[in-house]
Amino acid sequence: MTRIDYSKSTKYTDLDAIYMECSGPGGLRLSDFMAQKMGMGPKARLPKARLLDVGCNRGVQSCFLAKEYGLSVFAIDPWDDRMQGDPMVEHVRRNAQAWGVASSVLAQKIGVPDTNFASESFDFALSTTALEMVRGMQGEAGYLACLEEIRRVLRPGGVFGLGEPMHLDVPLPADLEPYVSQEEFPWKECFRDIHATVADVERAGFRVIESGYAPDAQDWWMEFALHDPFCKKDPQGDPKTLAVDNGRWTSFGYVIAVKPE
Ligand SMILES: C[S@@+](CC[C@H](N)C(=O)[O-])C[C@H]1O[C@@H](n2cnc3c(N)ncnc32)[C@H](O)[C@@H]1O
Repeated sequence: MTRIDYSKSTKYTDLDAIYMECSGPGGLRLSDFMAQKMGMGPKARLPKARLLDVGCNRGVQSCFLAKEYGLSVFAIDPWDDRMQGDPMVEHVRRNAQAWGVASSVLAQKIGVPDTNFASESFDFALSTTALEMVRGMQGEAGYLACLEEIRRVLRPGGVFGLGEPMHLDVPLPADLEPYVSQEEFPWKECFRDIHATVADVERAGFRVIESGYAPDAQDWWMEFALHDPFCKKDPQGDPKTLAVDNGRWTSFGYVIAVKPE
């Protein structure tokens, strides 16, 4: 079991500022967790390892990984910002300058599965709190197509880290059902349990080396509820859902997998 050292992420203490620039539970602690589970240690540094960050949003986690783990990061996101309406990748570019990593973070407005990257381009691929939305919109076939594209662009032996809101391996509590049936991205359509997610990653051609529910999942969700700007604006939205749930169903899972040689 990898022992996670959070000292790289916990020195960034302004959680309102961090959650302004990403959009999911865990913030930089999630990136620290995934980086160490994926083996992005000093070994990966020379020559600079290439990371694909899929669904980077405003890119604060991409910048953190470039700065603290010495990676060359390709940050991709196909959407425009819901607040200002400008492309997410423009925020990534501005964040990369602010973090002093403009030469290590390249942002492109594209998404999986249509990346057009050459095959075997990356040493690492990471996707956090992004692909479950694709599942919600396009079903299992759409989700699988994204995983297969990630496998295509990873080099053989390359490592894929998937971190996702998931539900525990329990039936959905009846009183929670109305709260996870939101109009936009209903959690009950988007979230799966860890076993179903591992099966999808394997179906896409990866060898899974570790998977589980993150030990700090509840803490990450509570932090999200307190600091995410949309949660702050709408306490009856996700914060209410999490309060009603009270840790019975909603969690956060991770899968670490390798592209076979
Ligand atoms: C909820 S945010 C998560 C951001 C960040 N990775 C995190 O962990 O906080 C999900 C992002 O996935 C992006 N996204 C949606 N569909 C995508 C696709 N097909 N490929 C890549 N990213 C996608 C959205 O634009 C959004 O910015």
